[in-house]
Amino acid sequence: CGIVGCILKNKKAAPVLLDCITKLEYRGYDSVGIATLDDNGIHVKKGSGQIKEVDEKIDLSNMLGDAGIAHVRWATHGIPNKENSHPHLDENENIAVVHNGIIENYGDIRESLEKEGHVFKSQTDTEVIPHLIEKYMSSGLDLEEALMETLTIIRGSYAIGAISKNNPNEIISARKDSPLIVGVGDNEYFIASDAPAILNYTNKIIYIDNGEIVILNEEGVTVKDSKRNILDKEVNIINWTSDMAEKEGYDYFMLKEIHEQNIAIKNTLIEKDNIKEIISDLDNINRICFVACGTSYHASLTGKYLIESMAGIPTDVVLASEFRYSANALNENTLVIFITQSGETADTLKALKKANETSKTIAIVNVLGSSATREADYVIYTKAGPEKGVAATKTYISQLVCIYLFAAILAQNKELLDSLKKVPSFIEGVLENESKIIEIAKKYKDARDFFFIGRGLSYPTALEGALKLKEITYIHAEGYAAGELKHGPLALIDNEIPVVVIAPPGDSYDKTMSNLEEVKARGAEIIAIGPCNDEFIKYEVADSFCIDDEISEILAPIVYIIPLQLLSYYISIERGLDPDKPKNLAKCVTVE
Ligand code: G6P
Repeated sequence: CGIVGCILKNKKAAPVLLDCITKLEYRGYDSVGIATLDDNGIHVKKGSGQIKEVDEKIDLSNMLGDAGIAHVRWATHGIPNKENSHPHLDENENIAVVHNGIIENYGDIRESLEKEGHVFKSQTDTEVIPHLIEKYMSSGLDLEEALMETLTIIRGSYAIGAISKNNPNEIISARKDSPLIVGVGDNEYFIASDAPAILNYTNKIIYIDNGEIVILNEEGVTVKDSKRNILDKEVNIINWTSDMAEKEGYDYFMLKEIHEQNIAIKNTLIEKDNIKEIISDLDNINRICFVACGTSYHASLTGKYLIESMAGIPTDVVLASEFRYSANALNENTLVIFITQSGETADTLKALKKANETSKTIAIVNVLGSSATREADYVIYTKAGPEKGVAATKTYISQLVCIYLFAAILAQNKELLDSLKKVPSFIEGVLENESKIIEIAKKYKDARDFFFIGRGLSYPTALEGALKLKEITYIHAEGYAAGELKHGPLALIDNEIPVVVIAPPGDSYDKTMSNLEEVKARGAEIIAIGPCNDEFIKYEVADSFCIDDEISEILAPIVYIIPLQLLSYYISIERGLDPDKPKNLAKCVTVE
C-alpha cells in the first residue's frame, strides 16, 4: 500500500493528493481513497479499482480543503471493496486515517472496542486505529497525544497518516517498519511512502525512522522521537526528477524499462569503486549468504554460481521469507548480502535486522534512502533509475551487474571486469531484433503452460524467465534446471507445451542441447535461445532467437534474459493485459 498527506497554503489538496497517489500506484491498485479537511470537517471519497477508474466515477480531485491524506491499497485484510478502502474513519467521522502495514493484534483490539460500543464498517485491520484515536481524544487528549497512546496498543508495522476535525490544519504521522518520508516545500508540507510520490512538488526530503512521529501544520514540520523529544532531522536533496519516471513515448513502463537496460548497466558499472572499497574493508569472511525475494532472489542465485566458481567462497541463497527459519548458522565471519530493488520489502528488512545481530551486511538497492540502505552496514546502489513496471527488468540487470562486479573484484578477475563494459552494446543488438520476439509471442500467446530450462548460470535465467511470464501473462510457467527435467516434470511435456531452452555457448552447451532433444522427442515445441553461429542457426526447432556468440556462458545471464523479458511483455500485450499492473501483485510488498 502507499500513503500520502499534504498541508498546502490556499490551494486545494485533493488534486495534489491525486497526483501524488498516482505515483504510488505501483504499491497497489486494489482501491484508492482521499480524505480532506476544512473548517466544515472531513470529506471522504474512496472506491475499489485502479485510480483512473475510481476517479472517472467519483471525481477524486473535486474536494474542498487545503489539507488531506490519501491511500492506494494492496489488500491484506478484507477484499478490495469500498468499505475496506482507506481512509478509515471513526463512527462520528471526526477522524480519518490512512495506513500502510499490518496491525497484528487488530482482532483483540476490535473485540474490546466493540464491547465498549464501537461499531466497525470494514474487515480491515486499519479501522481499529481511528477508533482508538477517537477513544483517547474523547478522554481529553489532542490528536498527537491520542495517536501516541494508540501506538502503545497496536502491534505490527505501520506508516500512518491521521487527521481530525478538531485540528483543521494538522496531519500527524508515525512510522514503524513501513516506509515514510516527509517533503518540505515552499509553505507546503508532505508525508509519503516514498520520495517519487512528491517530487513534482519538492525535492527536499526528510527520512523518518522507526518510532518517530511527524507533525505537519501550516508552520512546518516537526519530527519527534517516541518520548516526544523534538529531533533535528537532516533535509536531503533528491536528484531524481518526476520526468525520469514517465513513459517517454513507450506504451508501457515495462517496455521503456526493458529498453533502458543498456543505460542502466553503464550507470551501475560506476559502482565499481564503491564495491572495491567495501571489499577491502571486509576481513575474515569465510562464507557468504544472499537473502532476497522474487526477481532479486534470482539475481542472488546467479551470485552463488559466480562467487563459488570464481572466488571459492561457500555461498548460500535464502528466500527472505524463509530466512528466520533456516539461517541460524551465521557468525561474524559470514557476509550477508541483501538484494532488494525497492529497499522496502518487509520480508527482506526483517531478515536484514536479524543478520545485523551477528554478521556484516550489505544491501544492494535501487531506491535511494530506502529502509534497507539505512539498516545495512554497507550499501551498493543499482543505478537503474526509477522502475515503475511491477515486473522487475532493468533493476534485475543492474543487480546482476553489481554481483558481477562484486565477484570479479573478489576473485581479482580483470578479464571479467573488462568484458562487462561491452555488455550494453550486446543488449542493443538483442533489442534490434525485437520484431522476431513479437512473432514468437503471437504464436504462443494462447499456450496454457510454459517450461523454461537452462544449466549452470542459465538456470537462474530460466527461473526468472518463467517468473516474468507468470507475473504479467498469467500463463502457468516453470523454470527448471535443464538436467532435472527428466527426474519428474518430463512427464508433463507434450505437444501443447512450449519449452524455452536457454543455451549460451560454453561448457554446458552440449548437455543443454541433449536436454533439448529429450523434450523435442516428447513433442514439445521448442523456443531455443542460443548463439548466432552456424551450428545453432541450423538446428531444427520450432522457433529460435540467436544472440551474438561473443557472449560467453559467463556473461549470458545479463543478455539472455532480455528476449525472455520481451517474450513475456509481448504475450501480455497479445492477451490484452496491462503488463505494468499485473493482478494481485505490487511492486513493493511491505507486509510479511
Ligand atoms: C514483489 C514484486 C517482485 C519483486 C519482489 C522483491 O513481490 O512484485 O517483482 O521481485 O517484490 O522486491 P524487492 O524490492 O525486494 O527487490
